[in-house]
Amino acid sequence: MSTEQRKLDHVRYALELPVTMSNGFSDLSFVHRALPERDLADASLATSIGGLTLSSPILLNAMTGGAGPTEAINRKLAELANETGIAMAVGSQRAALNDESLRSTYRIVRDVNPDGVIIGNLGAGATVEDAQRAVEMIDADLLHLHLNVAQELTMPEGDRSFAGLLERIQQVIEGVSVPVIIKEVGNGMSIETYRMLASIGARCVDVAGRGGTNFVAIENRRRSGMQFQQLEGWGQTTAVSLLEAQTYLDRFELIGSGGVQHALDVAKCLALGARAVGLAGAILRPLMEAGVEHAIQQVEHMHSELRTILTLQGCERIADLSARPLIVRGETAEWCRLRGIP
Ligand code: FNR
Repeated sequence: MSTEQRKLDHVRYALELPVTMSNGFSDLSFVHRALPERDLADASLATSIGGLTLSSPILLNAMTGGAGPTEAINRKLAELANETGIAMAVGSQRAALNDESLRSTYRIVRDVNPDGVIIGNLGAGATVEDAQRAVEMIDADLLHLHLNVAQELTMPEGDRSFAGLLERIQQVIEGVSVPVIIKEVGNGMSIETYRMLASIGARCVDVAGRGGTNFVAIENRRRSGMQFQQLEGWGQTTAVSLLEAQTYLDRFELIGSGGVQHALDVAKCLALGARAVGLAGAILRPLMEAGVEHAIQQVEHMHSELRTILTLQGCERIADLSARPLIVRGETAEWCRLRGIP
């Protein structure tokens, strides 16, 4: 199975498979304020990650790159990011490190969006040298190191060895020229993981919880014979992953992602302390089904909804949302109770 075919399979199944798992956001509610004492015109969506100012907290999360149709998808994603000003991450650049002819298919995101914030992407086992090459390939402003253990273990051709990853991550954080974001791909994070990441000096973390694109389910569709059916619900939701991070809010700049579908989900992540919120599947679908123009309108509408929610909560800035109470119910509340999260 070629890397190219695998990437195409991921796009295809990400589009085809229905989202069936809860992302936990329906357990969270804002408290309405009938007297917000703010004007909509004063609501600002500006935020920052890794010392970079972002005009919007919405981030187009890592998806693809490579030859053929994946290059065309990357171009469309880059056009969307360029038009709307949202930050964009590329998919894993491993293929282009191994095959120089593929570099232009990643570089395209910088050519289309010369002034945008762009995030490079490699798996968390990468060496410092490879990480630096990935950054330079696209003039990345930040670098994702992704953690996808559940995906690798359920992928027939996936990695099986994960010992020593933490030390390698530390070397990249210390050795690469841009800030590094440690990122899950959809199974969430826990306080145990945050503790380990804090111990090596990680500053930026993307929690990518369960409830959106489901890589175990995708790998199950790709494999013949016995499947890892029971593992399709593995991991923590994004809501739980952010709640688990509450004692690390001073330590980490958090990105909430995984199953984020609309502006209200984005706002809930921000209220739980995230500085930015990543969307992958929820943007890929309208982009592929209805085109770039439609996706641009959708992101702009989300911006307008976010300003509305800020105003409803009596906030002018994104950071103010994290001081607003959020009611936590159901399974998410039960999880917090059992884990001693106040
Ligand atoms: C991804 N994702 C991903 N993440 C990563 O760090 N490197 C990668 O190469 C990819 N590739 C990829 C391909 C496709 C087709 C999709 C849909 C997703 C994971 C992505 O960035 C995100 O973490 C998850 O998809 C969860 O977010 P959503 O989709 O639920 O918003």
